[in-house]
Amino acid sequence: MNAIELLEHDHRMMKSLLKRALEASAETRREELLDEIRTNLVAHERMEEEVFYPPLEEHAKTHDIVLEGYEEHHVADVILDELLQTEPGSDTWKAKLKVLKESLEHHIEEEEGEMFKKARTIFDDDELARLGEQMAEVRRSAVAG
Ligand SMILES: [Fe+2]
Ligand SMILES: [Fe+2]
Repeated sequence: MNAIELLEHDHRMMKSLLKRALEASAETRREELLDEIRTNLVAHERMEEEVFYPPLEEHAKTHDIVLEGYEEHHVADVILDELLQTEPGSDTWKAKLKVLKESLEHHIEEEEGEMFKKARTIFDDDELARLGEQMAEVRRSAVAG
């Protein structure tokens, strides 16, 4: 998969995990899904921040949207940290998860809309393939811990 295919594939998976977590009511199920969300979020943010974002930050066309992306990752990290410290059976857990879901859906929309669209005009096919390989490597090391 090239860089954009890999990120979009990850986005579909994250959306599905968030939807399933919001529908879950059993505490153990909520905890399992939150753990999966955390692993995938950490890996995904690392792939973007270590490989995909830096060259785009250098381009005038994508500079601002990339800076916004870093901040949206930060917001997601803060909500996730709070969720991990919230009683999984509580209504507050569900409310925080809903905010995380909405915030990530907005972030994904901005990446797939403006950022990836412009990235396709900046990177050629070879570059997208090479970035995809580097990101797959970062994902492997992130998931292995
Ligand atoms: Fe992303
Ligand atoms: Fe992102």
